[in-house]
Parts: sequence; C-alpha cells; structure tokens
Amino acid sequence: MRVLVSGGAGYIGSHTVIRLVEAGHDVVVVDDFSNAKPTVVGRLEALTGTSVPVHSFDLTDVDKTEHLFANETIDAVIHFAGFKAVGESVAKPLDYYQNNLDSTFSLLRAMRRHDVRTLVFSSSATVYGAEPRLPMTEDLPTSATNPYGWTKVMIEQVLTDVAASDDRLRIAALRYFNPVGAHVSGDIGEDPSGIPNNLMPFVAQVAVGRREKLSVFGDDYDTPDGTGVRDYIHVDDLAAGHVAALDRISAGTTPMSIWNLGTGQGVSVLEVIKAFERASGRPIPYEIAPRRAGDIAASYADPSRANSELGWYATKTIDDMCADTWRWQSKNPNGYPDA
Ligand code: UD1
Repeated sequence: MRVLVSGGAGYIGSHTVIRLVEAGHDVVVVDDFSNAKPTVVGRLEALTGTSVPVHSFDLTDVDKTEHLFANETIDAVIHFAGFKAVGESVAKPLDYYQNNLDSTFSLLRAMRRHDVRTLVFSSSATVYGAEPRLPMTEDLPTSATNPYGWTKVMIEQVLTDVAASDDRLRIAALRYFNPVGAHVSGDIGEDPSGIPNNLMPFVAQVAVGRREKLSVFGDDYDTPDGTGVRDYIHVDDLAAGHVAALDRISAGTTPMSIWNLGTGQGVSVLEVIKAFERASGRPIPYEIAPRRAGDIAASYADPSRANSELGWYATKTIDDMCADTWRWQSKNPNGYPDA
C-alpha cells in the first residue's frame, strides 16, 4: 500500500515510517514541522534506503490537503499529526481543539472525496480518564482530564460516527500507553522541544548532563513503592502495532476498531530510574517532589485484544527501552541538529 503518514517526522511517526517501509509499504509524509526537525527526513532515508516524499504543510489547511490527495496516490492514512502537550492544552484549549479536530476533519473529507477508506488514528490511554479500572480494557467508558485528552476522546467519537455512516470504511483507533525508547540505530528518537514533560526524555537528559536532577512527582501513591506506575512501551513495538493494525483492517470487514497498544506491565518511576542507571552506567540524581496535578497513580493496559486480533505483542523490556533511549541520547545529546 501507499500510506500517507501525517506527523511522519515526529517521534512515533518516524519510527512507524521505518516499520512500514520494512513491511514493503510505500510512504508519503505530511508534517508541518511545528514539533519536528527536517533533519529527521535524511536519517529516515538513510535507514530505509528509500526516498521519503515529504509535504510540508498544516493539515488544517483544507485546500492544501485536497491538493495533496489530488496529486499523490494514497491507499491508506495513518494520522499522527497533532498537538500533544497536556499542560499547554490547559493554557491554550482553543488551539488544541482547533488544530487536532480541524486536521482530522480535513483529512476525513479529503479521504472521502478521493475514495481512500483506510485510516489508523493515533489515540491515547488518556481516554480512560481519571479513575480507570485496571488493567484498562477497550470497553471502559472514555473521558478526559484536560483539553488534549478531550481531543482524543472527541476524535474517537467522530471516527466512530463516520465509520457507522459508511460500511466501506476501515478505521482503527490505537490507544497508546507510554511510548519510550528509540530506533536501535540510535539515529532516530524522541527530541522534545524545551523542558521535557514526560519522564523518559527527562531522565535521559539528566543522564547526559543537560539537566541536573529529576523531580519524582509524588512518592505517596497507592502503588508498591509509592511512585506512579505506567505501562511503558517501546516505540518500535508501537510502530509494529500500526503496521499490524493497518494490515488487519485493510483485509477485514469491520468499519471501526479500537485496540490498546501496551505491554500489560506496570513499571514505577523508581524502577525506570534504576533501569536507566543500569543502561547508561550513570547515576540519575533525583528528589521527591509534590504530585503533578492531573496524574493518576497507575495506568496499564490489558493488551489481550490486540494480541489475539492483530497477532501483535510488545516484545521489548524496560531494559531494552532504556538502552535504546540511552543510545539515541548519547549519540545526539542535543537532539536532532537544525540543518
Ligand atoms: C502523559 C500525559 C498523557 C499523555 C502522555 C503522552 C500528563 C498528566 N499525562 O502521561 O495525557 O498521553 O504523557 O506521552 O501529563 N514523572 C516524574 N517526573 C517527571 C515526569 C514524569 O516523576 O519529570 C512521573 C509522572 O508523575 C508519572 C510517570 O512519571 O507517574 C510518567 O509520566 P509521563 O511520562 O509524563 O507520562 P503520563 O503522565 O503517564
């Protein structure tokens, strides 16, 4: 298939591009580079040995999106593009609703006009809301605690309704748990702008000396060691999950599917610190800080639906995730170069 990857220059998108090419698909990327560096494209081409066509524009631009679909052969779409910072979404809710929803509407309309019926959407375990039952199964009710999370809930609803209106559509929403790690080459990885919001990139920047110490947000949760528990999943396993979902929906008959992509294993903040110290051979200084507003104690998937329906399993351990993150961070201490 020739797959349009929106946000294909971003963290999860770029790893998925590699997996798609390895699986024999052709790839076209659309990215506005608002949160990605153009230098990622050359690295993708070097790693895959193919040229990766890139269209650089914002998908909320309906005319440019239409022009893209009119001029490229596209068999399927994987839609990663979107704003994703929780704190920023609280400060700028309109920007988040407008960007994340309008880009999806624009894509869906172009897909309809050009008879593209297959779509995989980048959703999040954040749709399970503030007090989820554990482990999280796909049939739990959805809600959110911030505008970013609501955009994921809303887009899933839009996709469910659109799929119900046309039984030729093949749509999947993939609910990611906590993506971490990097390509095994150390040439592609997560490069957050500014101070990282998420745990693993922050730990990696402490290890490489860019930040002095980690703040552990709370050690009084109802978890085995008191720190927050999450289901960290290697980004390469996650990328493989997209290829499996794409293959499955395009061969199937169901208009709308939802799959959790996680390992099913909970790992605490202190366990991540220890694993990263093992992988890097460096100490990770940390201090216990107050809880972060909006955090839940524990989050982990029941991945059995994806296991049985996609034949997909997360294969990599927390030690693999830390080793690959460290390879990326130590080879690229300041992330991707600007040019
Ligand atoms: C966060 C978002 C979630 C989003 C996901 C995307 C919040 C509240 N949630 O998930 O909506 O889908 O990122 O990747 O922002 N931690 C520290 N110190 C730090 C950073 C994090 O102790 O400097 C802890 C957190 O309290 C948590 C764990 O590490 O227990 C993981 O945090 P993080 O990587 O930010 O992921 P989530 O909060 O699960």
